[in-house]
Amino acid sequence: MKKVLVTGGAGYIGSHTCVELLNSGRDIVVIDNFYNSKPKAIEAIKKITGKDFKFYEMDYLDREKLEKVFEENEIDSVINFAGYKAVGESVKKPIEYYINNVSGALVLLDTMRKYGVKKFVFSSSATVYGDPEIIPITEECKTGGTTNPYGTTKLFIEQILKDIYNADNSLDICILRYFNPIGAHESGLIGEEPQGIPNNLMPYITRVAAGTLNELSVFGNDYDTPDGTGVRDYIHVVDLAIGHIKALDKLDKEEKGLYIYNLGTGTGYSVLDMVKAFEKANNVKVPYKIAPRRPGDIAKCYADPTKAKNELGFVAHKNLEDMCKDSWNFQKNCNL
Ligand code: UD1
Repeated sequence: MKKVLVTGGAGYIGSHTCVELLNSGRDIVVIDNFYNSKPKAIEAIKKITGKDFKFYEMDYLDREKLEKVFEENEIDSVINFAGYKAVGESVKKPIEYYINNVSGALVLLDTMRKYGVKKFVFSSSATVYGDPEIIPITEECKTGGTTNPYGTTKLFIEQILKDIYNADNSLDICILRYFNPIGAHESGLIGEEPQGIPNNLMPYITRVAAGTLNELSVFGNDYDTPDGTGVRDYIHVVDLAIGHIKALDKLDKEEKGLYIYNLGTGTGYSVLDMVKAFEKANNVKVPYKIAPRRPGDIAKCYADPTKAKNELGFVAHKNLEDMCKDSWNFQKNCNL
């Protein structure tokens, strides 16, 4: 049976996507170097789905090992989640970020070319829009103006994919621009486990609620938003994972092309909305203080999800309460 190769399949979005791929009846091969993930995620994917798959512990920059994966398996498509993703760290370690994310993607694409694999799904980010000129953001909005090397790696890889597609129209590429994924699988077995102090809002909130961190710093309350705090489009990670299945479905049946989709809900929530929703959904307290703005942050960012709805049949179904409950359920499971 033809297989989907998932790079970074033990990570936060990768592991949830592996579950949905297996649930959709697909066969998968997973590679991960556990740089920012743990082996137990692989076991959890098997436990949730009751299905087995081949796993290779390796770096996707290791061309020799990667070629072996393509030789040993009949790979039909690739979903690339491998990559570094910490914004702050990327500012301090730009060389590592460009090598790992950009060179890694190139090694992968070059290996795909060698083995004649044409279908590629890339995890990009709404960060490629920089400070968006129009809200809600459509796929036609200008990209660029990224404020950190992490975001720039996403922008560069998007450009590389466009160039590669121009050179070879037999490729079938889907770029998915994620908004803000939060939540976890309802089993509580997989979820987001950032190392050290989290940078992103939801992992920080769950740690404050758990008492591991004292209080949340709300980065700025003087933005041009209804309550002055930053507004984002939070999407449940399981919905996001399903977006990848829809993307593969499209690549499987339609004409070859390079497609770009926003994966978001279309609804924006502020930082204070998130704190209140989390407290209400889980009956816990999240102490917070107002702190200065975080450099590089923007006021508002939410998707126009129409294109993904019309062309992929993708609509996010889970609501904010589901996201808050599942994030907390996973956090509690981690502490056990
Ligand atoms: C961040 C990255 C973005 C990346 C995304 C990945 C920055 C500037 N942007 O997006 O490039 O694609 O993560 O998930 O880092 N907030 C607080 N207190 C906190 C943490 C966050 O008030 O302790 C606020 C932020 O100011 C923002 C909102 O919560 O308004 C969401 O922040 P975050 O979860 O870090 O995501 P983004 O900044 O949207």
